[in-house]
Amino acid sequence: MNEKRPSVGTRAVHAGGKPPKSVTVPKVPPVYASSVFSFDYLDQIDEVYEGRVPGYVYSRQRNPGIDLLEEAVCSLECGSEAVAFASGMAAIACSVLSLVKAGDHVVAGRVLYGGTVTFFKDELPKRGVETTFVDTNDLGEVRLAIRPNTRLVYCETISNPLMEVADISALAEIAHSAGALLVVDNTFASPVLCRPLEHGADISINSTTKYLNGHSDVTGGVAVFGPCASGTREGESSSGRSGGEGGYPAARARALASLYGPTPSPFDAWLTVRGLRTVELRVRKCSENALRLARFLAAHPKVGVVHYPGLESSRYHELAGKYLDGGYGGMLSFELKGGSLESARAFIDSLRMVELVPSLAGVSTTVSHPGKTSHRAVPREEREACGVGDGLVRVSVGIEDYEDIERDFRQALDAVPAS
Ligand SMILES: Cc1ncc(COP(=O)(O)O)c(C=O)c1O
Repeated sequence: MNEKRPSVGTRAVHAGGKPPKSVTVPKVPPVYASSVFSFDYLDQIDEVYEGRVPGYVYSRQRNPGIDLLEEAVCSLECGSEAVAFASGMAAIACSVLSLVKAGDHVVAGRVLYGGTVTFFKDELPKRGVETTFVDTNDLGEVRLAIRPNTRLVYCETISNPLMEVADISALAEIAHSAGALLVVDNTFASPVLCRPLEHGADISINSTTKYLNGHSDVTGGVAVFGPCASGTREGESSSGRSGGEGGYPAARARALASLYGPTPSPFDAWLTVRGLRTVELRVRKCSENALRLARFLAAHPKVGVVHYPGLESSRYHELAGKYLDGGYGGMLSFELKGGSLESARAFIDSLRMVELVPSLAGVSTTVSHPGKTSHRAVPREEREACGVGDGLVRVSVGIEDYEDIERDFRQALDAVPAS
């Protein structure tokens, strides 16, 4: 036995533990799959914690790969600071919680992703925060709902699942004149088509599960904060500090992420950065295909209503022209004539290439049934009153050759009995 050499077990434990030295850097940053970082000497811990030298401590707090993701989405959204989360819902919940405290009030859109509605309706009251749901396209109703203790107005750029387009700058003006902030879920539009912060919003949130990653293999979310919500605006705004427990919303959201721990895994962050490099190409192709499919559906004798802001007949076409840049998005929804669950079922079950998938924004075309998936937790009467009936089919249009998508829709529509 060699006295100087540690045992094979010890050598195995320590083998390959330090990155090799190299003056060249990898073309693609690695996956920083490390839950923790090592220090050279004890006082270095203080130096890193106090920001005197750059460094990482623990990946629930910060990780280089997650920082790269935050930097990338922040740049796409033209923001000041971004915080990444393990899901879109975590990004929504922590962003909203960064703005409110007991006794505060929220004004939110009536038609939103179902999980968001449930959060506002069931979770916020447990923390003493009340929400008034309004039609955010009725600006009079929004103004009337504002109270002295309103801290935020919340909407989606393109709403799930009815594809209503929000008048972001008008909502920002209403929110700001009441000392509140505007929070926008930008998931359906993605920063390719809309950058809400450029229109006056204070926080823009993406479920990166959707277009930003774009390959249906990651769950994630990123909240991007504008200058007022991150404290980077010259001449600090009092509304930026409103609600919460002091400090700016961006810092509070990061503190919540660090404390509760809904931070993404380093591998998911890496995959998302890889996915978002092609987001512009994907979103533009999805938008082109969706516009063609929406026109096809609108002209089909078995189809009743089609929700797509790219259609000239859409109530939201003008707002889409104002806020969406170079396309109307890859999402649409429609009902067959009669709007029954049976007709929706017959259509969905007849699709061959297009899969039934309760998510969206991957590369392939998929359909979903909001009543049975995203809005399952919303009571049926409430859903129906907002236009989310049992006959509504949501389509996430992908990047396939358009003709193949239309062929599958055409044969599935042919299979539906005439109403
Ligand atoms: C518009 C919108 N926002 C947020 C979410 C929630 O995102 P995640 O599923 O990543 O938590 C979804 C999910 O479908 C969504 O459609």
